[in-house]
Amino acid sequence: MPASFFDNRLFRDSGFEMALNHPMINIAVKAARRAGRIINQAADNLDILTVRHKSLNDLVSEVDRASEAAVIQTIHAAYPDHAILAEESGASGDSEYVWIIDPLDGTTNYLHGFPQYCVSIGVTHRGVLAHGVIFDPTRNDLYIASRGRGAFLNDRRMRVSRRTKLIDALVGTGFPFRMFEHMDAYIAILRELMSKTAGIRRPGAAALDLAAVAAGRYDGFWEIGLSPWDMAAGALMVQEAGGLVGDLQGEERYLERGMIIAGNPKIFGQLIQVIEPHLTPALREALGARP
Ligand code: IPD
Ligand code: CA
Ligand code: CA
Repeated sequence: MPASFFDNRLFRDSGFEMALNHPMINIAVKAARRAGRIINQAADNLDILTVRHKSLNDLVSEVDRASEAAVIQTIHAAYPDHAILAEESGASGDSEYVWIIDPLDGTTNYLHGFPQYCVSIGVTHRGVLAHGVIFDPTRNDLYIASRGRGAFLNDRRMRVSRRTKLIDALVGTGFPFRMFEHMDAYIAILRELMSKTAGIRRPGAAALDLAAVAAGRYDGFWEIGLSPWDMAAGALMVQEAGGLVGDLQGEERYLERGMIIAGNPKIFGQLIQVIEPHLTPALREALGARP
């Protein structure tokens, strides 16, 4: 049987076992799967709860919290001294190792029963991304990455796409929906990219968007207004799959700046070229006032 287009980019690879054998990846996977079970169980009751809007919102925050508690408990059982940066409970501990957790990325989708959400767990060592695990409980898809050991979707090695021209590229993004201060600049970028790419997608879970770049499904991705827990695990996946990640000027401190461009090396460069002229004084200031 001829290999499909999809198979060409996701190779079966024994490196998966090696990466999975790393104790921190092992714990992160255990934590993400535990959280995924909580998310899936609660999702079964969404249709009953949608009529009670407040309860639904309460339920979602309960699911966020329960998922996060399960993740942190699993991490602390193995690494009691490691620090945590988690969306719902914030920062705690002081350690060379920081676990950066989004217990449910894609809350709005979850709330609506739209099956595009995940658990995202990244680990930094002395400020450098070391490990990442993303678990998509709707598809039972496990994404893992370890610095220097590659990135995997289930048991297959991920590689970024090989497309070289922006006009052929499928590009993901996230629309601003909480903070609208950079709306005009965002719309200007979106308008230009709509006519300069093969298509734009906004599925609604940034961690899965970055994983899609790593898997070669998207050729690139950009978003303004993200938090470290949206990006940590997925950014490492893109890098370990051979891609590039940076802020809106392609610089390194995207986790702090909350703005990200990711892509295969060719598309990454072309996205920066399109985005650069639209950077407003406010965006430049947020990027650290680089000229
Ligand atoms: C959100 C999702 C969404 C992105 C937002 C994030 P949450 O995370 O990743 O795709 O556009 O910027 O805040 O709130 O669902 O965890
Ligand atoms: Ca998130
Ligand atoms: Ca979240």
